[in-house]
Amino acid sequence: MNLLDGKIVSQAVKDRLKAQTEERMLNGKKVPHLAAILIGNNGASETYVASKVKSCAEVGFKSTLIRFDEDVTEQNLIFKLTELNEDFDIDGILVQLPLPKHISEQKVIETIYPEKDVDGFHPESVGRMVQGLPAYYPATPYGILLMLAHYKIETKGKHAVVIGRSNIVGRPISIMLSKNEYPGNCTVTVCHSHTHNLKEICLQADIIVAALGIPEFLKADMVKEGVVIVDVGITRVIDETKKSGFSIKGDVDFKEVAPKCSFITPVPGGVGPMTIAALMMNTFKACEAKD
Ligand code: GUN
Repeated sequence: MNLLDGKIVSQAVKDRLKAQTEERMLNGKKVPHLAAILIGNNGASETYVASKVKSCAEVGFKSTLIRFDEDVTEQNLIFKLTELNEDFDIDGILVQLPLPKHISEQKVIETIYPEKDVDGFHPESVGRMVQGLPAYYPATPYGILLMLAHYKIETKGKHAVVIGRSNIVGRPISIMLSKNEYPGNCTVTVCHSHTHNLKEICLQADIIVAALGIPEFLKADMVKEGVVIVDVGITRVIDETKKSGFSIKGDVDFKEVAPKCSFITPVPGGVGPMTIAALMMNTFKACEAKD
């Protein structure tokens, strides 16, 4: 069993971006600038946004964190996004999800200009991605591709089973893995809550992307020897032994499944850091597009 180590790969991506950003500065070019919007005080969202802002500093990007209270109106949020859209210095805009119930996620996503949509959630970005056109790929699936490529995982002709069909991970990764280029050319099966015979389908998989959000769902008797597993789960579960009071669990029962795998991502330290590295890549590209 080999680890797909997101800490190592994301560091390599960030080192490259740091060098490229320094080069831009030396050439008198614009430095990438990410604007992140955080609403309310959801603990997990706070952690993710803090990591994104920290990563910007690590690679030499500028970042602006904008916070709103939980009860911010949709109108005020949209107004801020409109301002950021028009601000030349801002290259990428991200609104951390989930949003409070009274705000339409779709409306917010569609307000962000596609050229600043570094999360890759705008319908235009998704449409371009589906058609194989240059696009901002959503950060988590993009991070998974970067990781598979780093470890030179063979994907051509392989059966990839994706568990979960969210707009953020399951659906986009299923499209990306079926693309006619590396890392892709997989035969992809998308499984979800209505799938019959999930275990039998998983047993046929050469690659499994587990993105359903149920801690330790995937067990050893559901996978074949030599499978490659990408675990996207990051559920917080109560853990009295931890200072924080919780630990992070993936969607895969790592202890029992890992021995059967050729490669597997750990949680934490797998997909999580790759998501952030991919966001940095998108922000860099958004800046470069203005040259
Ligand atoms: N919430 C969970 N994942 C993501 C992500 O990739 N981007 C944003 N903006 N919010 C998220």
